[in-house]
Amino acid sequence: MCGIVGYLGSNHAAPVLLSKLRVLEYRGYDSAGVAVIESGRLNVLKAVGKLSNLETLLQKERPSATVGIGHTRWATHGSPTDENAHPHINASGTLAIVHNGIIENYSELKADLIAKGYVFRSDTDTEVAAHLLSHEVEKDGDVLAAILRTVSQMSGAYALGIVSQNSPDRIYAVNHHYSLTVGLGENESFLASDSAAVRQYTNKILRLAQSEIAEIRADGVRLFSFDGAESSREPVAVEASAYKIDKEGYKHFLLKEINEQPLVLRQTLSKYLSGADKQVNFNVDSFSPDIEGMYGVKMTDEEIRSIDRVQIVACGTAYHAGMVGKYVIEELCGIPVEVDIASEVRGRKLLGNERTLSIAVSQSGETADTLAAVKDAISNGSFTLGITNRPDSHLAQLTQNLIVTECGIEVSVAATKTYAAQLICFYLLAIYLAEKRGSITPERARQLKVGLNQLPGVVEQILGREEEYRRESLKLADAQDVVFIGRGFNYPTALEGALKLKELSYIHASGYAAGELKHGPIAVLDSSVPVITVLVPGKVYEKTLSNAQESRARNARMVAICVDGDETAPKTFDYFFRIPAVEELLSPIVTVVPMQLMSYFVADYLGKDVDQPRNLAKSVTVE
Ligand code: AGP
Repeated sequence: MCGIVGYLGSNHAAPVLLSKLRVLEYRGYDSAGVAVIESGRLNVLKAVGKLSNLETLLQKERPSATVGIGHTRWATHGSPTDENAHPHINASGTLAIVHNGIIENYSELKADLIAKGYVFRSDTDTEVAAHLLSHEVEKDGDVLAAILRTVSQMSGAYALGIVSQNSPDRIYAVNHHYSLTVGLGENESFLASDSAAVRQYTNKILRLAQSEIAEIRADGVRLFSFDGAESSREPVAVEASAYKIDKEGYKHFLLKEINEQPLVLRQTLSKYLSGADKQVNFNVDSFSPDIEGMYGVKMTDEEIRSIDRVQIVACGTAYHAGMVGKYVIEELCGIPVEVDIASEVRGRKLLGNERTLSIAVSQSGETADTLAAVKDAISNGSFTLGITNRPDSHLAQLTQNLIVTECGIEVSVAATKTYAAQLICFYLLAIYLAEKRGSITPERARQLKVGLNQLPGVVEQILGREEEYRRESLKLADAQDVVFIGRGFNYPTALEGALKLKELSYIHASGYAAGELKHGPIAVLDSSVPVITVLVPGKVYEKTLSNAQESRARNARMVAICVDGDETAPKTFDYFFRIPAVEELLSPIVTVVPMQLMSYFVADYLGKDVDQPRNLAKSVTVE
């Protein structure tokens, strides 16, 4: 979480820092701030809340400095206040630090510094680093040497950006099991925790290695390991990206991204299911030259046939995609699949061996818990496969096999189009593995591919029902608690529907396996509680309908996501979100769309911050 940026060159630093922070605002929006060095003096400007508050402050103050660092915060240690906002400074106000991650031993370090007479103004772990560094700088005035002594005392995974009056013509960056990218321009240099915020300005980038320090000047960069040894690496030339944040006429990014789903599905399908023979092929050219060669499923056919177990790790929406993946892989490949919430793998023994395929799903590719689980899988000797929207992410670097969702940047914090793309990738992967292992017939594979290719059109039809869905959705806006149920392939859809409604509207919602309702959750039902049921034709239709009837018998407000022409549903349900029928196995891609729209309409009606819901961040880089 949190985003770090830096600039030094001959232009005014503040506008550059601000535009880079805009790219990183998805990483947190509790507060934002910059520290610039103006005529040799440190000047720190920060504001609680959205980046626009900092923008207003900078417009008023108009700092003319050409060196500075900036930060956008997602609160971990200490609430979102001015005192806790970054950058943090030392007692004399001569150096400033921005920080991403957690300094795990900060309590001990803080106690030690307090004993030495340091006074703390914030509740953050970052301020510990500021005072500790200051303490070390005072010894000999050498900032780089002081950073080396400081990092040797700190534990945890973190990234830092540092400016100091002692070295006013440079920025220091520290990367310890995090992610930081330096960009090198014509007599100007950039720093950011996401390369997208560097590529706005230059196509020459250098990703910092684990446990590496960069001393950045306008005309170049020096790299040091934590033991002080200097190393050199040539920057990589990448495609400069015109990172565009544009709602293109939509009221919110979320609505735009929901509407982009047909395009995303088409793009992903055409990338991985192209060619006259319509074979699934993941080994395709990268669209990011700097990571060329990393894409694809590199396992040999023999290795694929050797797999006797699949494990999937992910968080949040990506976890729900993983659950659909489990059902689909088990169905088509006949291999047992376990799905784990990645944070639940921490502190536990992740079982696996060289016959295990360990799949990590992460839109950002930077989710700390997911990355930690991948490292466990690597140490088990398992095959690893990442599914991510960010080919330049940590996940992409860690995993042997990589499938990239073709979504473009997802700006809204709530995931929608990336979920659709993750599902498509799971379908394609399951078919790919099943064909290699001979667990489905060529005819079944063909039938599924035809079905997959029809999905973008089906989702388009659903999106055409927006107005109808809006009317039905607003009937639910007064609810305090909402229950989502589904079975089989659509149990994960129920979980995802509940997550979307919660995070967007702040209405309490829970998703359950429909058959599990009667084992306890049914106690919460009364006439005020909507029960949203995913009811599509297939193996579990009758049973799901029975579970819905049990809810109806408790006077719940019955809402169906059901297919056109279902004549049975009206006997049980009061409200309807009709969808075109598709094969049950493929239906999760379709059934989730009315839920996304429902959550959006309710949240917008209630006046919630749709694109940046409270307390959330798009990329969760702390454990
Ligand atoms: C989804 O709407 C979320 N905001 C969240 O659950 C997200 O899916 C989760 O944090 C995982 O992120 P990742 O896909 O980047 O790993």
